[in-house]
Amino acid sequence: PLDHLDSVWLFGYGSLIYKADFPYLQRRPARIHGWERRFWQGSHDHRGTPVSPGRVATLIEAPEANCIGMAYEVTPAVFAHLDHREKNGYLRFFTEFEWLDDGQSVEGLVYVAGPDNEAYLGAATEAEIAAHIAHSEGPSGPNSEYLLKLAEALRELEAHDAHVFAIESELRALLE
Ligand code: BEZ
Repeated sequence: PLDHLDSVWLFGYGSLIYKADFPYLQRRPARIHGWERRFWQGSHDHRGTPVSPGRVATLIEAPEANCIGMAYEVTPAVFAHLDHREKNGYLRFFTEFEWLDDGQSVEGLVYVAGPDNEAYLGAATEAEIAAHIAHSEGPSGPNSEYLLKLAEALRELEAHDAHVFAIESELRALLE
């Protein structure tokens, strides 16, 4: 249904921020409003296994909050490929992206995994999440690598994400 468009903007807020293994036309740092990043989604295919799922990012609705990430402009064909690959529990929504550099905005798509999907793990303290991440690993690598690379990428974007940085410091203490 996106085939009538020349291109589609996709908002990345997890591993997509630091790793895009697909062709894109351009990428731009962006912010979406009304959403907040949380490590509440289970991963049984990338950073964990079905018996021992890892924890990866999803978004929760938070009217006063916002989330900084990286937007990618892709062709509808690339989007269709990603849509198939990333579906596990994630639904896609159209939302407004605000560019960090000039404040202009554009409409694009974002994937969100809500409480009603099978892989959802839900809320836990940041210390519990760090402990969970410390012992999880899947076909894409250690769960800790995902969290640490994301935290590093967020620092580069000058994004103040208290949730991610709290998990990061708990995790670094555990890995020492
Ligand atoms: C992300 O890295 O931003 C992402 C990837 C797949 C689904 C949802 C988000």
